[in-house]
Amino acid sequence: MPERPTRAPRTAAILAGVAVAAALATAAIAALLVNIQERKAEARDPYLKLVRVGDDTTDPTAWGVNWPRQYDSYRRTVDTTYTRYGGSDGTPARSRLEADPWLVRMFAGYAFALDFRERRGHAYMLDDQRQTRRITERPQPGACLHCHASVIPTYRRLGDGDVRAGFEALSRMSYGDAYAEVVETGSLNPVPEGDTQGFAHEPGAHPVSCVDCHDPQTMAVRVSRPGFLAGIAALAAGDAPVPHLASIERWRRGGRDAPYDANADASRQEMRSFVCGQCHVEYYCGPKTTLFYPWSQGLRVEQIEAVYEETRFPDGEPFYDWQHGETGARVFKAQHPEFETWSQGVHARAGVACADCHMPYVREGALKVSDHWVRSPLLNVARACQPCHPVAEAELQARVAAIQDRTHALMDRSAAALVDMLDAIAAAKAAGAGDAALAPALALQRKAQWRLDFVNAENSMGFHADQESARILGEAIDYARQAVSANQTRAAIPPASNAEKQNAER
Ligand code: HEC
Ligand code: HEC
Ligand code: HEC
Ligand code: HEC
Ligand code: HEC
Repeated sequence: MPERPTRAPRTAAILAGVAVAAALATAAIAALLVNIQERKAEARDPYLKLVRVGDDTTDPTAWGVNWPRQYDSYRRTVDTTYTRYGGSDGTPARSRLEADPWLVRMFAGYAFALDFRERRGHAYMLDDQRQTRRITERPQPGACLHCHASVIPTYRRLGDGDVRAGFEALSRMSYGDAYAEVVETGSLNPVPEGDTQGFAHEPGAHPVSCVDCHDPQTMAVRVSRPGFLAGIAALAAGDAPVPHLASIERWRRGGRDAPYDANADASRQEMRSFVCGQCHVEYYCGPKTTLFYPWSQGLRVEQIEAVYEETRFPDGEPFYDWQHGETGARVFKAQHPEFETWSQGVHARAGVACADCHMPYVREGALKVSDHWVRSPLLNVARACQPCHPVAEAELQARVAAIQDRTHALMDRSAAALVDMLDAIAAAKAAGAGDAALAPALALQRKAQWRLDFVNAENSMGFHADQESARILGEAIDYARQAVSANQTRAAIPPASNAEKQNAER
């Protein structure tokens, strides 16, 4: 017969059982808490990270370990792509001055008359800047690097933690010194000396990095460039209607207490354009004052012009970009106003962001991944356009071609008017017209070429806002013709004007 268990061990067993149960309960509660913590952390940080990345990790290979799909497509920006009006073949990229010789006259007396090329993929942005004759043959400021490299960690270092202060310090340096700060001293991987083609294939050598568009903790899109943050805050603080940017209109209704902060106030869909608007914008980046985006009166061509007309350099002199080499007019230079032009178009009003067309979703198994091979959407119509426009690809291509060809033809007419204007002013000068007599014509020249340059420097050949681009070119033609017929230059109209020659060729 089995021995009956004694009382004492039984009590011990019960006590042990209670202890075990308590321990288990504690463990269960602890596990639950840990689980909740993990869930919370996951919510904040939804990705499994194999490599720790932070605000100073400019090397995209590190991020690539965690997000291999996005990294793979991102690396493809080294590949050459071009369309009729987009991108470029060859290294270096095709010269826009050779394609359109009138540009050399429009830019007379300015570095752009030396060298101005088609754009290429993001991988080349630093190398193309480093090698342009505008840099190698003219002194340029460190501010140039603001949009051509992963500069924020360098700004933070130079400003002892204050990005804005570091930005101002680097902007004031010469390009060479600033380049050394960012590329050699800074954490950006160096470009092998003399390597003009292969560098971008080096892992890690891509100058714009994941950290330029993403928060490393959450991977949410984020804007970091001081020029953009200040520019968009100034836009919000003004009164210009921006119906396509609902968060700004909402912020204005909210009393304007704290400055508009794109990262906190903008919607996710707005951020999908703002990350590109960090760089694809009109800006001033000359030696006389810190780089700024001229948006305080709005994003349209004449609103930006009004800001420039009212701006004074720190020494009190009225703002201008350069003095025209043929006529002496003080003129403005336009630069890639993609964000501003898109803002005037039907897609912006319909809430369609840059990333919708230039970084469309690609399905990989069960996942939807943003295509990080940023390029012309015309090479990718099935993903870039057809999800919203379920019509044949040929139809969509034809719609775009019609817009672009019309814009191009109007631009040619505008260029002919510009050349006639320059000829007329030169002839009037040669005939002895003085500064005072020429002043009205020079003021019209400034308006005409600002508008023509604005559309030419914009890189979609009218697509981002077709009617707006045509309106601007129409005004450019009108101002140039007004300059020709201004009293002081009327006598000097050359016998066979460029427009007549152009009409004869048609
Ligand atoms: C509705 C679609 C759409 C949206 C939205 C859009 N784009 Fe475009 N973009 C195009 C098309 C189409 C072209 C013309 C491409 C071509 O000619 O090959 C273009 C051209 C460009 C180019 C020149 C491309 C090249 O290959 O040379 C740049 C740069 C650009 N867009 C930037 C932007 C930016 C920045 C935004 C947002 C502010 C934006 N785009 C919004 C469709 C779009
Ligand atoms: C850090 C600044 C910066 C940011 C941010 C940026 N770009 Fe660019 N982008 C450039 C520069 C500079 C070039 C020209 C590079 C060259 O020609 O070497 C360029 C070129 C391009 C091109 C031409 C590509 C080709 O193959 O011809 C397109 C299209 C473009 N960008 C669209 C975008 C879009 C869309 C976004 C936002 C998702 C964006 N960019 C964000 C600076 C930037
Ligand atoms: C506000 C952002 C920004 C700043 C500042 C900036 N760039 Fe760019 N740059 C771009 C973008 C965006 C492109 C691509 C679109 C294009 O080529 O029009 C580009 C293209 C270029 C290109 C290739 C096409 C060309 O123009 O030949 C060169 C070279 C270049 N930049 C040089 C410079 C220099 C030099 C400076 C300083 C004076 C500078 N950039 C300052 C944004 C910027
Ligand atoms: C020029 C800006 C830009 C750069 C550079 C960039 N991204 Fe993105 N990325 C975006 C945008 C825009 C989205 C879409 C975000 C959204 O819709 O919320 C995105 C989305 C993502 C997502 C979310 C999932 C998805 O595919 O939509 C991940 C992960 C990601 N990027 C990883 C990376 C990595 C890794 C790098 C560097 C190798 C990188 N990105 C570089 C702009 C950029
Ligand atoms: C996210 C959705 C979306 C994407 C992506 C998109 N579109 Fe659109 N598109 C629209 C909407 C919405 C309209 C405006 C329709 C309206 O208001 O009548 C529009 C209008 C147009 C128009 C008429 C423009 C005008 O001035 O009347 C053309 C052409 C066009 N899209 C072509 C394209 C092409 C080409 C692409 C790809 C590069 C593209 N769209 C990508 C949504 C989109």
